[in-house]
Order: sequence, then structure tokens, then C-alpha cells
Amino acid sequence: MGRRFENKVAFITGASAGMGAETARQLAREGARLALLARRADNLEEVCAEIAAQGGEATPFIADVNDRAALDAAVAGTVEKYGRIDIVLANAGFGVTGPIYTLEVDDYRRQFETNFFGLLHTIYATLPYLKESRGQLGLLGSVAGMIGTPATSPYNASKFAVIGLGEAIYHDLDELGVSVTLINPGFVESELRHINNRGELTNKPDPIPSWLVVPVEKAARTIVNALYRRKPDVIVTNHGKVFALCKRFLPRATRWVIRRMSKGRLPKL
Ligand SMILES: NC(=O)c1ccc[n+]([C@@H]2O[C@H](COP(=O)([O-])OP(=O)(O)OC[C@H]3O[C@@H](n4cnc5c(N)ncnc54)[C@H](OP(=O)(O)O)[C@@H]3O)[C@@H](O)[C@H]2O)c1
Repeated sequence: MGRRFENKVAFITGASAGMGAETARQLAREGARLALLARRADNLEEVCAEIAAQGGEATPFIADVNDRAALDAAVAGTVEKYGRIDIVLANAGFGVTGPIYTLEVDDYRRQFETNFFGLLHTIYATLPYLKESRGQLGLLGSVAGMIGTPATSPYNASKFAVIGLGEAIYHDLDELGVSVTLINPGFVESELRHINNRGELTNKPDPIPSWLVVPVEKAARTIVNALYRRKPDVIVTNHGKVFALCKRFLPRATRWVIRRMSKGRLPKL
């Protein structure tokens, strides 16, 4: 396969781990120059070093997507270094979990700050440059933004919001020549399910059976292909496609199965 992203500049949030890091590696192999943003300097610098070792080019920007000034500085740094931004992948996110009766409003607020408002800050900070390049915006939603699942309501709500936003701004940004790709993964190998409700990495085991979890390389390949084709949306993972179809065409049966599987198993108050 040729280098499909030659001369393109990609700005990726949440690039120190998981799908953000792997999508960065794959875009670099296909010729893109990268601006990578996350909070953990060591991890981010390691990803940039790996990309450089493969002959690619990546610049780390240490920032929190909730900090608009830091995000703006990262965008300014990217444009100073590379002169343009063609692709933005708003990928930074984490999951607040637990049944609603064990949580408080602040848990939902913290979840929305990163998964929704962090993503919105990323869009506003980069839009002038995407408009200039008639570029493309990738938004990380989730299959959890299509189906409500037990004990994950803050995460579900934040991802339903991302999908609503993405579907609506598809039309607004098309007006400016900017394409939007909504990326909705199922279960993918990453740090996501080892992060606690405060956003800290722990050694808690992944509750999802390993046979259902898709390798991050495969997920990133689907993301890169969807970006290349400027697809309006993509479901990453086959099990995610099945869940989405069940929800759409068999909503009652899907709700019944999920309830049956979780009944009596949720954490108590
Ligand atoms: N893995 C899955 O099964 C799955 C399924 C559906 C959707 N998703 C979505 O895919 C996206 C990527 O997740 P992943 O699975 O690759 O998880 P991951 O391995 O935990 O990576 C998350 C990335 O986001 C960064 N991040 C988190 N909060 C941030 C903040 N406030 N500011 C800047 N960066 C932040 C983390 O870096 P730092 O900690 O260094 O900041 C990390 O690089 C997320 O939006 C997630 O919700 C994942």
C-alpha cells in the first residue's frame, strides 16, 4: 500500500496510549507528520520516539484537553512547526462507571468535562486550521454511545452526546469543506478499562472477556481507513456492529438480554 497521508499533518489528542498512540504510529507509517497531545509526558515522548525510530515525525504536546489555554498553545505549536493541520482526531477520553445509585452529579460532570467538553475544546481550537486545509475531523464516540449498558451511565451519556454532536456538525462543517468521521469502537485493547473514575491508571482487571477484545492495531487500521475515505461514521469491531444492529432492529430483545445478563450482579449501594 502506498503512503496515503503523505504531506498531511495530523493532530491527535489522547495519543500517549491505546488507539490514539497506535493510530499515530500507523498514520506516521503512511507519511503523516504528527502533533500528539496527552497529559503523561513520559508516555507521549516514548510514542514520539518510536515514530521517529520508524523514520516518521511526531511532536509531543503535554496538555489536558480540559485546559483550553494549553490546548490552544499546542495547536499554535503545531502550526508553527508544520504550517498546517489537515486531520484532527479528538480521541482523549476515559470511563466513569458504577450504577447511578453509587454515583453523584459530580461524577457525571467530570465525565462530560473530558469526553464531551474536552472534545468540543479540541474542535474549537483546531477549526480555523481545518477550515483552511478543508481538512477532516475524527471524533471518538463508542458503541456505548448507541446502547445503554448497566453500571456505565456516565460513560454512555457522554458518548451519546458525542454522537449527537458529530451527527449534527457533520452538516455544519460540510458547509466549510471540513469532513466529520464519527468513530464508534466496541471493546478494544487499551488502558481504558484499567482507569478509575478519577482518571487514574490502576491494575484493576479488564471485566470484558479477552476473546471479545479486539487488538489495538486492528482497531487503528479501521480508523485510518475510515479517515482516508472520509467516511461519515464507522463502527470499529465486528461485535460492535452486531450490538448496533441488535439495538436498532431488536431494541426490546436487546434490552431484555442485557437486563437478564446483569440482574443481581451490579454493585450494591
Ligand atoms: N478501548 C475501548 O474499548 C473503547 C471503546 C469505545 C470507545 N473508546 C474511546 O476511544 C478513545 C481512546 O481510548 P482508548 O481505549 O485508547 O483508551 P486509553 O488507552 O486509556 O487512552 C486514552 C488516552 O486519552 C488520554 N487522555 C485521557 N484524559 C485526557 C485529558 N483530560 N487530556 C488529555 N488526554 C487525555 C490518555 O492520556 P494521558 O493519561 O497521558 O492524558 C490516553 O492517551 C476514548 O475516547 C474512549 O472513550 C474506547
